[in-house]
This record gives sequence, C-alpha cells and structure tokens, in this order.
Amino acid sequence: MNQTQHFIAENKQRFLDELIELLKIPSISADPSYSSSVHQTADSVADHLKSIGMHHVEICQTAGYPIVYAEWTKEPSLPTILVYGHYDVQPADPLELWTSPAFEPVIKRTEIHPEGAIFARGACDDKGQMFMHVKAVEAMIKSGEMPCNVKFMIEGEEEVGSENLGIFVKENVEKLKADVILVSDTGMLANDTPSITTGLRGLSYVEVEVTGPNRDLHSGLYGGCVANPINVLAKMVASLHDENMHITIPGFYDKVVELSDEERAEMAKAPFSHEKYCKALDMEDVYGEAGYSTMERGSIRPTLDVNGIWGGYTGEGAKTVIASKAYAKISMRLVPDQDPNEITKLFMDHFMAIAPKGVRVKVTPHHGGEAAVTPIDSIGYKAAALAYEQTFGKRPIPVRSGGSIPIVAMFEKVLGLKTILMGFGLDSDAIHSPNEHYGLFNYYKGIETIPYFYAHYTELTK
Ligand code: BES
Ligand code: MN
Ligand code: MN
Repeated sequence: MNQTQHFIAENKQRFLDELIELLKIPSISADPSYSSSVHQTADSVADHLKSIGMHHVEICQTAGYPIVYAEWTKEPSLPTILVYGHYDVQPADPLELWTSPAFEPVIKRTEIHPEGAIFARGACDDKGQMFMHVKAVEAMIKSGEMPCNVKFMIEGEEEVGSENLGIFVKENVEKLKADVILVSDTGMLANDTPSITTGLRGLSYVEVEVTGPNRDLHSGLYGGCVANPINVLAKMVASLHDENMHITIPGFYDKVVELSDEERAEMAKAPFSHEKYCKALDMEDVYGEAGYSTMERGSIRPTLDVNGIWGGYTGEGAKTVIASKAYAKISMRLVPDQDPNEITKLFMDHFMAIAPKGVRVKVTPHHGGEAAVTPIDSIGYKAAALAYEQTFGKRPIPVRSGGSIPIVAMFEKVLGLKTILMGFGLDSDAIHSPNEHYGLFNYYKGIETIPYFYAHYTELTK
C-alpha cells in the first residue's frame, strides 16, 4: 500500500480542488427547481469514475434521479467491495444563517478543525465522504495496488427516501453481486477518537392535518365555541409523550429490542462529556427518556419528534383568527425490530383515536425505513478496525448512531450483504444545518484509511 499512500500524499491539492468543484453544483434532490443541477452532478460523478480508470461506468436512469454505477474487476475470484454513497444534498435554507454561500465552498479554520474545514452544503453529507472513495480507489488503481474488485453505486435521492434505489437494488441483484458493502455517510466520535458505526435507526415519517371549522373564523365571535385546530393539534402532540418521555402510542415499544446490561455497560465506555455536549448547544441541561443516558437516548431508543408545525396567522402584527386547519410533520426514529409500516399504522390509529369531536384528522405517511445493526465479529468490521488502527494509531470504538440510511437494511434483505459504515464526519459538522462543513483532516484521513480496508479485507478473506 506504500505506492498508494505516496500517490495520495502527492495529489492532496488536486483531490481537494476536485471536491470543491463538485460542491459548487447545487444537487438538492428535494426541490424540483434544482433538477438540472442534480443531473449535472450525476454526470460529473460518472466522469470522475471514468477518469480514475474504472472499467465500466454507467448512468442508470430511474423514475427519479439517476444512479451512477461503475465496476473495476481485477479477477472474478477475488472479493468484490460495493461502495454506496449519495451525490444529492439537503436544501440549504435558511440561507441567511450561512456565513458564506452554501454552494461557494471555502476553507475556514474552526476550533475543532484547526487545520481547516470545507464549508459547503454536502461537504460532509455526503459528497465529501463519497468522493473520498473515488479518490482512494484512484490512488489504488493508478499505483497498481488495487487488491480486489470494486463496484460503485452512487445515488441522487438519499435525502428524499431512496425509493428508486430500492427498486434498482431489487431489479439488479446479479449486477450488484459483492462480498461486502462499504459506506461513508455517518460520523465518528472525534478526530482523536476514531469509531465505527455499528447501527442506524429506522424511520417512520408522517404528516398530520387537523381540520376544525370549514373556514377561518373571527376568534372573538367563535372563540370558545369551536375546536381550534391549532390548540387541539398542540394538545394531541403533547400527549404523545408521558412525564417520563415515554411514547404513549399503544404497542409502540412491543418489538423494541432491549440491550443487555453487558451491552449497555460496553456502550457506556465510549467517551461522553455532558458539560461539553450542553455547552456546544447552549443548553443548561439535556432532556429525554427516563432511565437512559444521552448516548442511549440518541441511538438504542426509539423517539418521536415534531419536525415542523404550522397553521393560522404567522405574519407581522396580530390577526384575531381561528384557523380552519393546523398541520405537523412528525418523525419517529426506530430501533431493531420495529417495523416502520407497523409503527406508522399504530401512529395513525392512535392519532385518530385521540382526536376530539369537532375536528377531523388526516394522517399521510411519508418515506420510512428499517433500523440496521452490524456485528463486530465480521471480516468486514475486523478489516475496518485494522485499517483505522493503522491510520489513527488507535483502535476504533464501535458506536451505534441515531441517524438513518434506510437502504442499509434493504442491502441486507435483498442482497444478503452486511454494510460497513466507515464514517469520518463529526456530529459538530452541521450536516443538514447552515454552515455544513467537513474537516480537511477527516477528508484526507478517510482517503488514507480506505485503501487499508481493501487490503485487510482481501487478506482476511483468503
Ligand atoms: N448521512 C445521513 C444519515 C446519518 C448521518 C447517519 C450521520 C448517521 C450519522 C443521511 O444522509 C440522512 O440524512 N438520512 C436521513 C434519512 C433519510 C430517509 C432522509 C436522516 O437520518 O434523517
Ligand atoms: Mn447522507
Ligand atoms: Mn443527509
């Protein structure tokens, strides 16, 4: 792997310049007005894969945005690593909170990233992390040290639920044949505390609409006489947690896998500072389910959160009105073995049941996905741990994450493959928020670590 590392060291500036160009294209999958940019990004990713020497590169059309697929084969009998990532990004708003424009990448130093970080939407989630794989594979191919076969599958709809990727995977089981899936779309604990993600939460997402009177009313003439849908919605939402922050939907916890005391004790070994956590978020204290630590609340426990709530008059000044309708978007993060469809159904039934007379309630389900866990005794995990040890000089800590990548559970179900989540982002990198950034340390460390994974994985499967 020496030539590979040498190649990386020699090409650092170019690797950064190329990522910066990619970050300039606003590939926002949620907003149709960016459609041409999303397509342009797919083309650019495909061009990169061609230029690094992949044997076969294809832009696969779907009912939505295309999937960029590529193959490089050394020898069919050798192991095949399938790299998954996404080239789409979250919307950048609120734009006014960015200290530099979201699609004009700049390098700035921060307390956590003293050597600099790239500020741009998608810098960490996931263009920066996906592109580390393109550059790591380039380094291995061009230095003649690629030890196995590799396939790329880079999608453009992760941030909107990966529906078409799900279809693509089901229709292309043979094409996607591999031994392990490798993904960098998660994080690690800190730059001096490497960790490997061993679990992701699932997701059930619903939108609710509460209708009271058939039109907006004068709040003096009708106030007190009719159900105010905003009051009612607020009360219904508030009742979804009890005083211990347990979720009150009947049956919600029925299938939740509880961890053993040993597993919880193991988890508690990961470093966590309550003070630093609160300080970073400007809060006096944390808030959550009784009986669980902050780390547990954010990973092994299911949650329910309102993501948005609106209705009535929100403009300048005061308008005395009882709105006809109120709305909320609600997400539930799920853990093994909760079934997203079942949870959505439980939510719907419960939410309808608690609605008072005088309002009508409509619940619309959005995309969802199952939770996933990776064992730490697999060859893939061992290879990843060895790779981190080599580049960080420390054993990585296995950590379950609170985020979701719904396609990971599908990889296991449909392709029968485990996913290794080699994420190099930090929780403080502001993904999905204004001022998203990705440390240069993290970008380069990722590019350096990935080739060692290939080498160890190939070695361990012999
Ligand atoms: N890369 C994130 C997920 C993530 C981030 C997992 C950090 C673990 C650590 C991904 O792009 C994402 O944002 N997923 C969405 C779900 C999706 C269905 C929109 C999420 O977790 O909200
Ligand atoms: Mn992502
Ligand atoms: Mn994301």
